[in-house]
Amino acid sequence: MGRLDMKTAFAAYVKESVGRSSASKVISQPPHAAYVHIPFCRQRCHYCDFPIVVTGDHLEVEKRANLHENYFNALIREIGLESTSGRPRRALTSVYFGGGTPSLASARDISNVLRTLDSVVGLESNCEVTLEMDPGTFDLAKAREFQSIGINRASVGAQTFNPELLKLCGRAHSVDEIYQAVENIRSAGIQNFSMDLIGGLPTQSLETFQGSLEELIRLEPSHLSVYDLIIENGTKFARLYSAGSSPLPSEEDTSEMYRMASLRLQEASYVHYETSSFALEGFQSAHNQTYWRNEPYFGFGLGAASFLDGNRFKRDGRMGGYMDWVSTASKYEDLEMPVEEVYTFQTEVEEFIMLGLRTAEGLDFEELSRRFDEDIAKNVFKSLKGQERHHVHLEDGLLARLTSPEGFLVQNAIIVDVLKNLPF
Ligand SMILES: C[S@@+](CC[C@H](N)C(=O)[O-])C[C@H]1O[C@@H](n2cnc3c(N)ncnc32)[C@H](O)[C@@H]1O
Ligand code: SF4
Repeated sequence: MGRLDMKTAFAAYVKESVGRSSASKVISQPPHAAYVHIPFCRQRCHYCDFPIVVTGDHLEVEKRANLHENYFNALIREIGLESTSGRPRRALTSVYFGGGTPSLASARDISNVLRTLDSVVGLESNCEVTLEMDPGTFDLAKAREFQSIGINRASVGAQTFNPELLKLCGRAHSVDEIYQAVENIRSAGIQNFSMDLIGGLPTQSLETFQGSLEELIRLEPSHLSVYDLIIENGTKFARLYSAGSSPLPSEEDTSEMYRMASLRLQEASYVHYETSSFALEGFQSAHNQTYWRNEPYFGFGLGAASFLDGNRFKRDGRMGGYMDWVSTASKYEDLEMPVEEVYTFQTEVEEFIMLGLRTAEGLDFEELSRRFDEDIAKNVFKSLKGQERHHVHLEDGLLARLTSPEGFLVQNAIIVDVLKNLPF
């Protein structure tokens, strides 16, 4: 089976699942996680298809300030609408500011969002609050401001430590700025931070990937995400390169990069706890685990996805459409968003299996049986039993886990086999 999809579980998960509505037995529980999208970037990286607005250096300061002001006003109104939803409340255990480039926003704007979330939904006292902080977009003073308003976790997209590759990817920062970003984050007192690395980049060799991996380990982040490049439609990379051919590395080489990352990171004391995620013990991302456990969450902002009351929704990814929706919803106090595709019993079972097999926690047969059906749980167990020699570990008949890294590398084939045998 082909190359492993190592892109953020979040991104892949959102793309796979957006727009489905649930008609199943998912136990409705109040959401306890919120994703907030901050869409501004200095330039668009050549592989990126996220919903963003390029504010570049060419845009005058005043124009940029207006864009930010209008967007944050809409975001605050949108979160405020939640107070009229009648949904049962539970204080948030995680808030994730993702982008885009949230570190381009002012600490005051981010703080206003946090205060609004606190007054509308509530924040647990030990809530994990993550901000994506791109190299070259903040100095020590700004990092301190973020820390002082309650940011207790940062995520730094390094992608690679090779200057030519950074340039080829259209990144707006240098290698030195990655080191500077880490130093600023640490000096500001944010000790819990994650870093992202991408494998399978055009012209990338095993040696350059290994060099970047060693630099990452040297910086001692508490968490790491290692993704395999996805060539997304509509990106500059999609115009320049076709999947599977040079100068993209071969399938064998990208698998080897993954294997190398997994083994080397485990040797350096990181736990491989999800297909693309590694953490020092106790530093697993609380926020991402909400997605992988198939639990509900809020999504606020441009193009953001939510999973509420068993339904999956997605905000408009175009700024005009998003702003219009917030205005209309504010006027009519109507939070309903269109559900684009029916989220059936079948898709929900499939998603539960796929998400479970992505994590080191594994797929829980009792939970599968409780949420859906005993016969389905038995059927899945039988399929996985047949795959035991292919890197599937079955624990007392209760849990199924894929081994790291070999099981994760063939997870697509294993999942296809399990789904093929389901009685749908
Ligand atoms: C939501 S992005 C934005 C974070 C931040 N603005 C940055 O660029 O670092 C989060 C991560 O997704 C990964 N990513 C985005 N597009 C990707 C793609 N086409 N293939 C693989 N990984 C991708 C990158 O590693 C990135 O750090
Ligand atoms: S900085 Fe991040 S979100 Fe912005 S374009 Fe680049 S990859 Fe996409």
